[in-house]
Amino acid sequence: MPTGTVPADAASAASVLRCASCGTTADARGGRTRCVRCDGLLEVRHAPPALRGTELRARLDDRLGAPSRGTPRPLPAVVTSGVWRYRELVLPDAADDEVVSQPEGNTPLLHRPAVARWAGVDALLLKHEGHNPTGSFKDRGMTVAVTHARRIGATAVACASTGNTSASLAAYAALAGLPALVLVPAGGVALGKLAQSLAYGARTLLVRGDFDDCLRLVTEAEHRLGLYLANSLNPFRLEGQKTIVLETLQQLGWEVPDWIAVPAGNLGNTSAFGAALAAAREAGLIDRVPRLLAVQAEGASPFAASFRTNFAERFTVRAETVATAIRIGDPASHDRAVRAIRDTDGVVLAVSDAEILEAKTVIDAAGVGCEPASAASVAGVRRLVADGVIRPADRVVAVLTGHVLKDPGILLDLHRAGAGIVPNANPPIEIDADLGALARVLEAPRA
Ligand code: F0G
Repeated sequence: MPTGTVPADAASAASVLRCASCGTTADARGGRTRCVRCDGLLEVRHAPPALRGTELRARLDDRLGAPSRGTPRPLPAVVTSGVWRYRELVLPDAADDEVVSQPEGNTPLLHRPAVARWAGVDALLLKHEGHNPTGSFKDRGMTVAVTHARRIGATAVACASTGNTSASLAAYAALAGLPALVLVPAGGVALGKLAQSLAYGARTLLVRGDFDDCLRLVTEAEHRLGLYLANSLNPFRLEGQKTIVLETLQQLGWEVPDWIAVPAGNLGNTSAFGAALAAAREAGLIDRVPRLLAVQAEGASPFAASFRTNFAERFTVRAETVATAIRIGDPASHDRAVRAIRDTDGVVLAVSDAEILEAKTVIDAAGVGCEPASAASVAGVRRLVADGVIRPADRVVAVLTGHVLKDPGILLDLHRAGAGIVPNANPPIEIDADLGALARVLEAPRA
């Protein structure tokens, strides 16, 4: 089985699980994803890394350059993976033969003038997580969750999903040789994602209900049927997702941007980003934190509503949005995400489906492409620039969470519908197989 390896010097520090609500601690090698005492969500706490500050930076930078210096083959995950490179802050005591890595991460940080212009901020960079092996950021969390599943001897893994988590779990379970069960809302998952989970061999259940129903059902099954849960409730998932931020900081030469914008659904990523920034500051990798901008779709924006009450109230909604990945009405990681927003002086916004689709077509037309939910981050940046909160001279990183091919259905609908719905509709044109027909198309003005 193709697994990555982590050198023995990684196995220095232990980790514990700690309840985010009541503080009860538990063995990090246990299979629980919730607190035994209060059912709160657990967090992984690692012993501080042996190296700090510039020394730790140098170690991480070294790994980045390691392949060119004749590292023996096969290269270890600590070199090839953009997750395990940061192992001290992810899962320090994972043993060599435990790591299940594709590898993942190593995603580009892109500057596209057309997108920056549209958003109204010159120094806008796009961290494109669609470049992960299954086309979304979920792979960063899944390599850690499935590594943990294997080391605790889990016999089957499961998740509820709007499509990307299930695609990722299916792939990593196949790699680890574990059976996978995925629950997705019937009729509510983008085509590319559903196809992936079938292809990678997960048992795929189309649940007559929405994502929130799927999550409730799989959580009940976790206890009754002994499945190991790989949703972002799982604290090890978030450890892996922290590396989106760590890798971005490293790509920026450890210079801290002013803002990091991220689409928000179940709020796992928002929470992981807050944890990553706290860990990076504690380890002396950075000396201040950027402001987080979490962006929801208007029809699925309970967290944005809560933010408007200064988090005094928590809301649940029946979610509806064209961005199916974030069609979530009762986000599981609410509490952890509140802390992330508070710790970073962050902002939570809701943008309309029309804003999301416009952002998406600008990103697509720049040759970058992303799935609809991903474009929420850029739409959110544009809105905050218009509101005068983000200044045009700020340095902003917007995370694109998924690949353009994840949702081919909406792309075809948008472009076939022609002008009107999106500014640059590009409908396909069917012609007879002769040169005259081709010439007539080229002579006609573009729709
Ligand atoms: N963007 C994409 C492409 C996603 O798939 C998701 C979540 C998010 C953003 C939101 O991230 O939940 O951490 O706030 N997708 C989950 C799934 C729910 O099942 O694939 P979040």
